Amino acid sequence: MAAIDQRRDAFRAMSSASAALAERARRVMPGGNTRTTVYQSPHPPYVAYGKGATIVDMEGDARLDFINNYTSLIHGHADPDINAAVIEQLQYGTSYAMPTVHEVALAELIADRIPSVEHLRFTNSGTEAVMMAIKGARAFTGRPKILKFEGCYHGSYDFAEISQVTPESRWEESETPATATALGTPQGVMENVLVARYNDIADAERAITRHHDELAAVLVDPMPSRVGTVPATHAFLSALRAMTRAYGIVLIFDEVITLRVAYGGMQSVVGVTPDMTTMAKIIGGGFPVGAVGGAAEIMAVFDPRQGPKVPHGGTFNANPITSVAGLTAMEKMTPAEFDRINALGETLREGLAEAMDGARVPGQVTGAGSVFNLHLHNRPLTDYRSTSLTPAEKARTAAVYQSMLAHGIFLSPSMMGCVSTPMDSADIHTCVDAFAAALHETA
Ligand SMILES: Cc1ncc(COP(=O)(O)O)c(C=O)c1O
Repeated sequence: MAAIDQRRDAFRAMSSASAALAERARRVMPGGNTRTTVYQSPHPPYVAYGKGATIVDMEGDARLDFINNYTSLIHGHADPDINAAVIEQLQYGTSYAMPTVHEVALAELIADRIPSVEHLRFTNSGTEAVMMAIKGARAFTGRPKILKFEGCYHGSYDFAEISQVTPESRWEESETPATATALGTPQGVMENVLVARYNDIADAERAITRHHDELAAVLVDPMPSRVGTVPATHAFLSALRAMTRAYGIVLIFDEVITLRVAYGGMQSVVGVTPDMTTMAKIIGGGFPVGAVGGAAEIMAVFDPRQGPKVPHGGTFNANPITSVAGLTAMEKMTPAEFDRINALGETLREGLAEAMDGARVPGQVTGAGSVFNLHLHNRPLTDYRSTSLTPAEKARTAAVYQSMLAHGIFLSPSMMGCVSTPMDSADIHTCVDAFAAALHETA
């Protein structure tokens, strides 16, 4: 318990190095910020460095990093094998207007592990992967609309970001509304996105049967982080599979996060096969990356020999640095290594649930594999509305999050996190102990 007695919130002081950097940043970036998800008030801790499972801020405070850059760093920070591969490649150049052997090798590895991915293309982010999947599905089907699910995050492409948030004032509407996430979203975008409730077969059926001849794609994340990391039910995904197949609609699984759940991605666990899959995060070994893949017949819309039907450029697509880093990271993720970190994830989920029991705090833990999410309430969790917090729950969650930071545990503010390969069972116990202390402190 010694470790959690030491508080690590020096970054909060207005005299801290982090505060000074935030002040400089505010002079050149709106709100001092260039990535909405890493903002916190009045300023975040700034990083000095990361090593393995640890991240150290400018004040010299070390924390166990359970965010791992929002699940992307499956090997934690500064992995020696990835570093060696990148340093080797740096000598030969960082990007060229010619393809390399490295992108071919990474594409082969992914296609080999995920049978539904016959062909794939690389992008620089998950946002771009989702964008290209939607554009590809539109070209393949000749239809304009997509169906997505309330609350789900798929990056910043106009069409994919509809209904990330639905205000409670609109929950009474008889049909799940499509709401703009960014101010200024064109009406044409709104009209071409249908929204249904996550894990709700009847709601999806309503949208699909009514609009099937206009629907290019159904976009679904099998375990969405913004919907509490609640896994989709098998019945829900199977129903989507059956309906999309019946109407010739492209079923897209967004596995940007869930690829880290299993050797073959979440689709191999749930046993439902999509037509297209979007990927990012772990396949880049810590460098910017994305990929869109699927049935060769659909992916042919990107084939330059045929036009192409969908042009897809990108100056840094499949650059050799990302490709060698991604290949090294993925090769280290053997089935045994997936099993090991998933077992640590299971121990952590159990330990966190026991901590809430012990403290008599209502709560539950969701997630799968190496991913977890804490919820400080006992509502049955199925969709965006059931995972949305009341003002009191929000306040308690924020307090527990701050307390965890002070006790040396770095999670997302929504209390989502993941295990990385440098972690061991001692790290899991440290996290559980810090959570128990945070519950006690915020009671
Ligand atoms: C499910 C999902 N899709 C897409 C994205 C966007 O990926 P990126 O941040 O690489 O653009 C994210 C990012 O967290 C995500 O979680």
